[in-house]
Amino acid sequence: MKNLLLIMMFGLLAQANMHFEKNKKCSECHPQIFKEYMTSQHANATVFKDPIHGAVYDKHPQKNKKQKYRCGKCHTPTADNLDALLKPKNGVIPDINNETQNEAVACAYCHRISDTLPGKAMNKNVISKEPKKYFGNRKGNAKSEFHEIVTGNKGFQTGKLCMGCHMHKANKKGFDVCSTEDNNMNGKNNCITCHMPKVKGSVSNVTKSKDHTFHGFPGIHGDISKLSKYVTLSLKDSKNKFSIVVDHRASHASTLHPLRMSKLVVTIKRDGKVIKMKPVNMSKTIGIKTKNGSKKTPPWLATKNIADSRIPANTKKSFNFDFVLKSGDVVTAKFGHLLMKPGAAKKFGLQDNKEVKKLRVISKETFKIK
Ligand code: HEC
Ligand code: HEC
Ligand code: HEC
Ligand code: HEC
Ligand code: HEC
Repeated sequence: MKNLLLIMMFGLLAQANMHFEKNKKCSECHPQIFKEYMTSQHANATVFKDPIHGAVYDKHPQKNKKQKYRCGKCHTPTADNLDALLKPKNGVIPDINNETQNEAVACAYCHRISDTLPGKAMNKNVISKEPKKYFGNRKGNAKSEFHEIVTGNKGFQTGKLCMGCHMHKANKKGFDVCSTEDNNMNGKNNCITCHMPKVKGSVSNVTKSKDHTFHGFPGIHGDISKLSKYVTLSLKDSKNKFSIVVDHRASHASTLHPLRMSKLVVTIKRDGKVIKMKPVNMSKTIGIKTKNGSKKTPPWLATKNIADSRIPANTKKSFNFDFVLKSGDVVTAKFGHLLMKPGAAKKFGLQDNKEVKKLRVISKETFKIK
């Protein structure tokens, strides 16, 4: 019985080398969703299209020592040779000429996730065996002649379907390099309501609808202004200092990937001159314990968090500035994120990359002192 169960489980989980419809096929009837999706990191998650992922994989022992690409499980899950990519030392690494490896987190992959299960190194996606039955939420009863539509999968309402790839990833040492809290999954907002808002335009060109679910997946990449309403800034003035309060209402910490850095940049305009406050940097630093403390390391060597100044989920954090404001001063505060900490960017040879250097401002506020 136990063996039978194991075989059944294995059957469910074995998802390597399954066939998936191509993204391009979906574009025939869902042109607007396709256009948005193509700008997202889901469409650009491969070593060929994402320079940051490419640079980290390039220095990774998985490429250099093991000649494997375990990253493919989440970064190119529809590769037709996924099985071989995941196996060490068979000489198979990503190949730009393989069309299926350019599909990244494909439309059909997400829409076939029937469930996600907890896992030690990472969670697992359970993929439905039927290539043309797609899960969704839409209440309308329009049908597609190309595929069947299956509604009622709870994961597409709560965001559980996102957690197969986003919940956590441990390195070989069993340390979680990244993780995303799911503490808001049953609240008013979840991964889907925040990262896939409703926008104008039809769901398909076969039927006409007023709005559809945005597929550009804004995060630190992409149009971050779509997330601005979840992060607001206010000013508190007191006798010998002032504070900027960041009200961070995301259900997870202010950055999730250990490469990232957030910044609070504050300036004061007084008598036509601009006075700059020292910027506040926030990030998570991972590394190892040493004899006299701890040391930063790349993700594959880390065994612990050695510092964490990120703003936690649903938290208001106050930052003090030892500066006395006076009437007529204009204070400008900007809170934003960098894709890579400057030190890490240098290590991976991306210090001159424009996208990497750009501060992605999620909220900006100006306060006039009365
Ligand atoms: C369990 C799924 C999973 C696996 C396996 C995985 N990743 Fe990722 N990776 C993610 C997710 C999810 C993100 C987006 C997280 C975020 O932005 O906070 C990501 C983002 C990244 C980023 C940031 C990319 C950018 O453009 O900013 C890098 C770099 C990266 N991964 C490298 C790797 C490497 C190298 C491997 C293999 C050694 C790997 N990942 C394996 C899920 C995974
Ligand atoms: C021949 C046209 C056609 C093609 C090709 C097509 N679809 Fe659709 N699809 C439709 C129509 C029509 C609807 C119904 C839209 C509506 O409700 O107004 C639909 C609806 C959907 C829904 C909504 C389900 C729901 O109820 O929430 C999903 C998800 C979906 N398609 C995914 C895909 C994916 C993924 C692909 C590519 C693998 C694809 N479609 C290719 C025509 C198509
Ligand atoms: C209440 C809205 C909200 C919810 C719920 C939410 N997010 Fe976010 N998410 C944000 C905001 C805002 C940011 C921009 C970073 C910041 O300031 O927190 C963000 C950033 C991200 C990033 C980029 C972080 C990085 O370091 O690259 C990823 C990935 C992400 N969210 C995934 C998820 C997933 C998966 C879920 C569900 C478990 C989720 N989010 C739930 C608002 C939300
Ligand atoms: C990362 C996972 C993911 C990817 C990739 C993805 N989708 Fe979706 N899609 C979802 C989720 C979740 C929903 C349901 C959200 C909602 O409307 O409540 C959805 C909804 C839809 C709907 C119904 C839209 C509506 O307005 O109700 C269509 C159609 C669709 N997707 C097509 C596509 C197509 C086409 C692609 C690729 C171009 C794609 N999806 C890629 C997760 C994904
Ligand atoms: C098959 C794995 C997979 C699934 C399922 C998945 N993601 Fe992702 N997601 C990724 C990877 C990998 C990246 C990072 C790609 C890169 O930057 O190279 C990513 C990136 C993102 C980002 C952009 C982060 C940034 O830095 O801007 C957001 C936002 C996001 N995902 C949200 C979601 C949401 C919401 C869902 C569920 C509807 C979801 N993801 C489902 C693998 C997945």
